[in-house]
Amino acid sequence: MKLHAALRTVLALLLAGNGLARSLVPAKVKITDVQGVAFQSPFVGQTVDVTGVVTAKDKYGVWIQDERSDDVRASNGLRLYGATAKHANVGERVSVTGRVAEYRSTANDLFLTEMDYVVSLKTLSTDHTVEPLVLGVDRTPPLNKLSSLDVGPDGWLSIPGNVTLLESTNATLRPDEFGLDFWESLEGQLVTVPWPTATNFPDRFGSIWVYGDWPVTGQNERGGLTIYSEDGEVPSAHPETILIGRALDGTRNPKTRMGMKLSNITGIVTYQYGAYYVLPLTAPEVIEAPDSDARPSNLNSTVHACQLRIGDYNVENMSPRSRHIPHIASHIAEHLHTPDIVFVQEIQDDSGPRNNGVVSANKTLSALVDAIRKASGGVTYEFVNVDPEDNKDGGAPGGNIRVAYLWRPERVSLVPGTAGNATLSTQPVMDEDGNVELSYNPGRIDPTHPAWEEARKPLAAAWQTASGERFYTVNVHFSSKRDSSSVRGDARPPVNGHAEHRLSQANVTATFVRSLLDLAPDASVIVGGDMNEYLAARAVLRPLASLLHDANAVAGIPLEERYTYAYEQNAQEIDHVFVSDAIAERPGGVEVEHVHVNTWAETIGARASDHDPTVVRLWVCDPDEDEDVPLTVDELDREQIIL
Ligand SMILES: *[C@@H]1O[C@H](CO)[C@@H](O)[C@H](O)[C@H]1NC(C)=O
Ligand SMILES: *[C@@H]1O[C@H](CO)[C@@H](O)[C@H](O)[C@H]1NC(C)=O
Ligand SMILES: *[C@@H]1O[C@H](CO)[C@@H](O)[C@H](O)[C@H]1NC(C)=O
Ligand SMILES: *[C@@H]1O[C@H](CO)[C@@H](O)[C@H](O)[C@H]1NC(C)=O
Ligand SMILES: *[C@@H]1O[C@H](CO)[C@@H](O)[C@H](O)[C@H]1NC(C)=O
Ligand SMILES: *[C@@H]1O[C@H](CO)[C@@H](O)[C@H](O)[C@H]1NC(C)=O
Ligand SMILES: *[C@@H]1O[C@H](CO)[C@@H](O)[C@H](O)[C@H]1NC(C)=O
Repeated sequence: MKLHAALRTVLALLLAGNGLARSLVPAKVKITDVQGVAFQSPFVGQTVDVTGVVTAKDKYGVWIQDERSDDVRASNGLRLYGATAKHANVGERVSVTGRVAEYRSTANDLFLTEMDYVVSLKTLSTDHTVEPLVLGVDRTPPLNKLSSLDVGPDGWLSIPGNVTLLESTNATLRPDEFGLDFWESLEGQLVTVPWPTATNFPDRFGSIWVYGDWPVTGQNERGGLTIYSEDGEVPSAHPETILIGRALDGTRNPKTRMGMKLSNITGIVTYQYGAYYVLPLTAPEVIEAPDSDARPSNLNSTVHACQLRIGDYNVENMSPRSRHIPHIASHIAEHLHTPDIVFVQEIQDDSGPRNNGVVSANKTLSALVDAIRKASGGVTYEFVNVDPEDNKDGGAPGGNIRVAYLWRPERVSLVPGTAGNATLSTQPVMDEDGNVELSYNPGRIDPTHPAWEEARKPLAAAWQTASGERFYTVNVHFSSKRDSSSVRGDARPPVNGHAEHRLSQANVTATFVRSLLDLAPDASVIVGGDMNEYLAARAVLRPLASLLHDANAVAGIPLEERYTYAYEQNAQEIDHVFVSDAIAERPGGVEVEHVHVNTWAETIGARASDHDPTVVRLWVCDPDEDEDVPLTVDELDREQIIL
């Protein structure tokens, strides 16, 4: 027994000694070995020895860089975290012993490979310089796809999202094909982004989205990158863009806007807050700033009672006390030239965000109409909306946002009828003369349907022109994309927040339009508003897109110029106008302009709303050859001004 005990002690000592030896004499490896060729390091949890030159420093540590290898998948840069790492200075060649970790601060982030615990750090020599990799020259970002895991007919916009987690898959990198793989293969490296162009305003932390001097897709005339799907192709997720974070020397990034040209940016590639970033050594400067004045629409008049100009504008949480009312009014008057009907969204009740039971928005709408009258020199709109039930339609509590119509009574009027209320559902019905009318005019579409829980209900209306011809409109505001996951995060495809709600909202709206078209296949129907979704997310808007025509497509607007919003790196159209066959096929055609008063604003604070308005000119009836051509709006305007 004694012998056994002694043997066991010796054995235990030998084993412990062996373990100790392993941790005291760590493997000497290259940084490219630590980074490896997959999303996660082969050395996680192990203590290793690496050498490299310090390229940059911040208050949490340094980055070092070693020789490149022939394999572009393996980065030669590495983050060293912690107090010991901070002893090193830029330009020093250091030998470091430390523990390899994969770090992320939030569940849906991707992991960053780093040394999270530096055991020892020794400076070998000083005064080294590391030449940055020039992006677009030495390595060029791939186009279109972010991840091999974004499978599905709409690529990164396919629903449902979060079918796979990228980090659980830990795939071998394919940097020539996929954006996340590309940026991951540069993690920790010093790079230059030559001739950067900003695609948007800064985010709330001052970070800016750019692309450099390399191929891009979806580039619009302004210099932004637009989301679209062409001929059934999977839409591009713009992997060729990169976020520029806070500069390491404490200088501030400029206040960018879409299309602004900046000076070259040299910095370190990293991952934080749900995206890859370049952390610049010093902030870039503005080289060229685009003009911030959006052009007014050319669709400034009509020639006939059957030809109408329809405006659409999400006026962003407007209440009677909103300071942006005159700004919005000047857009409607001067940039949209007071269209015949304006679809508005986000009209709050008369008490604004005060949660006090008030639901009427008469004061809000009167304030807007008064402001447009002043801004236009006399154009007086009428307005209509249906008050929601208190706090039942989502949005800011107490605000009771809803959609509404403004119209010019000398051009159009509502077909006489009874207005609906919050819970009554309007239906298309045939009247005694064989014309389609709405059981409530205006009225909400199936407002108690579960699709509209905590959401704004669409408002349908039947109208007549000054010459007595009927047409129909639906003004919508679908659920927002809140609760979406980062497009550059772990969940693949990324979660498109509330896409399933928007899909059923599109379905209920389309079901209503179909019942109208069943009664009158030649009806002129216009469905417009803030749909909070791109047409490239085809599965979501399919019920509307398969029944009606996107006005942009009928008008032949170039794909990259179809945008009403800018979010992160993308210009995007989330406000849409759809028209029925009758309108799409009329010889007079359809014209569309997205008027970029807000996406082109000088600063984010100079905007009147987060959305751009749209104006559409179309025909809701055929001109009768014999009929006297009524006054044009230009002439009416002049008469009003003379009066
Ligand atoms: C990730 O893949 C690399 C390379 O195949 C491998 O060495 C590493 O152990 C993997 N990590 C995990 C957590 O699967
Ligand atoms: C994705 O699904 C996983 C479960 O597989 C869950 O833990 C995670 O929170 C989800 N992520 C997102 C962004 O919804
Ligand atoms: C920007 O970077 C490119 C590529 O390295 C270089 O050719 C150009 O001279 C740089 N421009 C300036 C102003 O430094
Ligand atoms: C309307 O726009 C055209 C150009 O499309 C312009 O020639 C004309 O002067 C404009 N009319 C008014 C009243 O602004
Ligand atoms: C709002 O205006 C409409 C018509 O303009 C009127 O019928 C309704 O009573 C008004 N509502 C309130 C609360 O003043
Ligand atoms: C709408 O009108 C119907 C019929 O008059 C009524 O029963 C219902 O209570 C009204 N709904 C609201 C929210 O006022
Ligand atoms: C709405 O959804 C139902 C059930 O999926 C489907 O049968 C119907 O065709 C859809 N309607 C429209 C207009 O897309």
